[in-house]
Amino acid sequence: MTKRSIDAFSALRALRLAAPSKRIARAPVRLSSNHGGPGSGSTAPSLSHRSGRDWALMLFGISAGVAGTYLWQTGKLGPSSVKLDAVVKHAGRKTSKGGRIVSSEELGEHSDLTSLWVAVDGNVWDVTDFVARHPGGVQILIDHAGKDVTQIFRGIHAPGTIEKNLAESQLVGRLDEQALAAIASGDHETQRIARARAALFGVDSVVTLNDFEKYAQGVCSDECWEYYSGGADSEHALRGNREAYDRVFIRPRVLRDVKEVDTSTKILGMDSPAPFYISPTARNGWSNPIGEVASTIGAGRTGFFQILSHVASRSLDEVMQAKADGQKIGWQLYMNMDRDIAAREIKHAAELGAQSIWLTADLSCLMKNVRIRSGSVKRNPAPADKPISRPDKPSRLSERHDPSLQWADIAWIKEVTGGLPVVVKGVGSWEDVVLAKENGADAVVLSNHGGRALDFANPPLKTLQDIGKHAPGLLKDDKFQVFVDGGIRQGTDIIKALCLGASAVGLGRPFIFAAAGWGPDGEMEISMRLMGVKNIQELGPEYLETSRL
Ligand code: HEM
Ligand code: HEM
Ligand SMILES: Cc1cc2nc3c(=O)[nH]c(=O)nc-3n(C[C@H](O)[C@H](O)[C@H](O)COP(=O)(O)O)c2cc1C
Repeated sequence: MTKRSIDAFSALRALRLAAPSKRIARAPVRLSSNHGGPGSGSTAPSLSHRSGRDWALMLFGISAGVAGTYLWQTGKLGPSSVKLDAVVKHAGRKTSKGGRIVSSEELGEHSDLTSLWVAVDGNVWDVTDFVARHPGGVQILIDHAGKDVTQIFRGIHAPGTIEKNLAESQLVGRLDEQALAAIASGDHETQRIARARAALFGVDSVVTLNDFEKYAQGVCSDECWEYYSGGADSEHALRGNREAYDRVFIRPRVLRDVKEVDTSTKILGMDSPAPFYISPTARNGWSNPIGEVASTIGAGRTGFFQILSHVASRSLDEVMQAKADGQKIGWQLYMNMDRDIAAREIKHAAELGAQSIWLTADLSCLMKNVRIRSGSVKRNPAPADKPISRPDKPSRLSERHDPSLQWADIAWIKEVTGGLPVVVKGVGSWEDVVLAKENGADAVVLSNHGGRALDFANPPLKTLQDIGKHAPGLLKDDKFQVFVDGGIRQGTDIIKALCLGASAVGLGRPFIFAAAGWGPDGEMEISMRLMGVKNIQELGPEYLETSRL
């Protein structure tokens, strides 16, 4: 039996060494896209030449990019899903005042749909007429109305966005010296972040993934942190994911020969050094300069399997170019309401050599992130005498998330791809695992989307336990695998899921920060040895105390 010493954290560490492929154009680094500080707007030198401290900054820069990505998510209340009537009704007359000087007080007066101004790079824009067709949504502009939005704007939009979308006549003028000086010196929060950033220590001083989250909070703006850490609604699903693992204990066995331990396994027929894969997460490019390609390179070096998000920052074409010879990439699909578009997308992925299609089934509409909205309202409270100017409640349907998805679509995807494996991601009850198998899926992911789809959705570990009770045959099926994700942050979490019958687990958030490895190496191997287990086939429910699950 081969000795393995790779686990979740050493794989993450390997990603730290991932250098960008020469074939991949490097996007500008936004180390502090949403809160300023050192590194803003610089371009990335070769990642492989970065020192440890640079990497630490880089990591924290990743968290800084979070705000941008989440804004993108809240931006899903786009014009197509918002009831536009309400917006149009409130929209004011177009102004065309030309270049005059504007004070921050005057800017602040234009903060609702009747007249909505924002300042970017010192220029004040009247976007009243633009709001209704803002691709990022109406609400987000209302939340930032009457303010300097330079940092947050730059974190989300490509250069040239203003020029392409706003007419010169919408330029009101320039902020006055006082306002510009205030922006340059930074507000209370910017200063707090700068202090936290200056006090950062090197990557080697961080012991676990959880530590990283703790430190990241210090160098994030409040808004950034809300976007990063928030779950759906009351966040019971988000907390439940983690708590499920915490409620399970291990029953170790001793006096067994555990000199050699093997963590390797097969995922969809492919060899994997350990039973986990990189779960698809959207828009990594807002948080690291080469986006998902960082994971591709790291995964290529370590032999792990990556699933690219449908809404990734880097295209599947780019990822396929960057991958190592023989490296396999899965592709995650959000089914478009327009099935012609969906068919084209799926075919394209198959032609590019995607190993499998991961159909995400748990987001038939977009969820409500209360933490984000509450934070936003706290920072921008509506004056008591101000008339209601918010858009009508959006439907939160999006063309990208077809709410009419059905089980028969599994066969349709197979037909379109000519038979690629299909994995149904986001299954939350054992009955649906049975249906997935009956309808030809090759695997399922028990998942509640990292606590960000349906609040109170069962912790996936519990769903896994239910399968063991009600349909145990599905867990020992050579041709059908059950994966689990959500809240998995350490080797023992993986072991617990495997003991309950999972074939492998997915890591979402940890790989967003995957430019570096955090935490101890060989954690899973150590745990297996301490449990008296030599390989993952030996893991079973008898090693767990699950009475509190
Ligand atoms: C100066 C006025 C603004 C203009 C002209 C503008 C323009 C745009 C455009 C053209 C897009 C589509 C980008 C794409 O398809 O890649 C977009 C998306 C977006 N914008 Fe804005 N925007 C403005 C202000 C803002 C502000 C102040 C915020 C938030 C603080 C914001 C948040 C967003 C978000 C979240 C998206 C969605 C990004 C995505 O789906 O990838 N925008 N905006
Ligand atoms: C607690 C950690 C997080 C959880 C549980 C979480 C979960 C989710 C969920 C459930 C969605 C719904 C839409 C989708 O999956 O496509 C989403 C969207 C998104 N997330 Fe987060 N996320 C987290 C952190 C982050 C971070 C760190 C980033 C950026 C680096 C990010 C970027 C995005 C983006 C860009 C979307 C939009 C995708 C879309 O609507 O199609 N998220 N996230
Ligand atoms: C930032 C972020 C973006 C995500 N984007 C996607 C996505 O585009 N497609 C998808 O199927 N799942 C997406 N997910 C869900 C993950 O694939 C996975 O189910 C979840 O993150 C697992 O939980 P964990 O983050 O606790 O490991 C996203 C999760 C996060 C955190």
